[in-house]
Amino acid sequence: MISDKTLTLTKRLRRNRRTDAIRSMVRETELRPSDFVAPYFVLPGENQRREIRSLPGHARLSIDHILRDIESLHAQGIPGVILFPVVPNHLKDNAATEAFNPDGILPVAIRRLKEELPSLCVIADVALDPFSSFGHDGLVDERGTILNDETVHALSDIALIYAQEGADYIAPSDMMDGRVGAIRTKLDDHHLTEVGIISYCAKYVSSFYAPFREALDSAPRIGEKHSYQLDWPNAREALIEAALDEEEGADILMVKPALVYLDILVKMREVTKLPLSAYHVTGEYAAIMAAHSLGYLDGPKALHESLMAIKRAGADFIFTYAIKQVLERLS
Ligand code: PBG
Repeated sequence: MISDKTLTLTKRLRRNRRTDAIRSMVRETELRPSDFVAPYFVLPGENQRREIRSLPGHARLSIDHILRDIESLHAQGIPGVILFPVVPNHLKDNAATEAFNPDGILPVAIRRLKEELPSLCVIADVALDPFSSFGHDGLVDERGTILNDETVHALSDIALIYAQEGADYIAPSDMMDGRVGAIRTKLDDHHLTEVGIISYCAKYVSSFYAPFREALDSAPRIGEKHSYQLDWPNAREALIEAALDEEEGADILMVKPALVYLDILVKMREVTKLPLSAYHVTGEYAAIMAAHSLGYLDGPKALHESLMAIKRAGADFIFTYAIKQVLERLS
């Protein structure tokens, strides 16, 4: 359409958005399979599978099922997994006794994964909540206080068990003070200098963890997690956590959740030279899948957009439940 209404503009940004070819040339951020780490909820035994009502597309699985699933994802370029044990309630207590079982769910799973898929990067989450009758990440005293230093000793001992089974990284998700340094020392004392630490250094108190807590039946039985996880309004505090964890020997830092804390990711990217990861958590995935099942939006597309935002904000890689949807869209 020819018109005499042509404006004289020095810049017309739409020229660079005109065709698929041009858009692909000027694209600033790329998502690749190697950007994603797959979380798994590990059941004891073999041939076990239990759905997770609030986490569509995911189930608690025994290690044989996990092996089959991750083998295919790994072949498509997914480099790593993070593991969470689903501990039967009768084995939970305040001392998290089951966490010290060298033949417990995670040690067995780590061993199997490293035997059968040696090139896979295996990350072991370390915190007491999957094992705790109180559902807390730390030991709880009679007054309901979460004990910092006692917990740090326990976490270091658990980390050692996972590292001895062959975990590539230990990922403490508990937010106790000093745990990164203590775990580093423990691993080094046992000549496990090659095992790294991915620190959940900015982990916020969040409603977006709800499906995760359903999966592990780990919702706190008393109180909440406000005395250890970060408070929503605080950003500077996350940067202090990052600096401390870096000093204590963290190899990789993490922001969690991801989407509602993109500002933290951007700020952290500016102050650390370490690799930076983000955890796109269960609730962030489940909310989109729920909207998808109601026909309110296109779930896989919205998940792809979400992961792009997290990468654009500065994450080098992302822990996410959306791998299958996004791999399909990338191919
Ligand atoms: C607890 C832990 C949580 C997650 C990972 N480790 C939740 C919590 O603090 O209760 C959440 C991950 C997710 O929702 O995907 N140590």
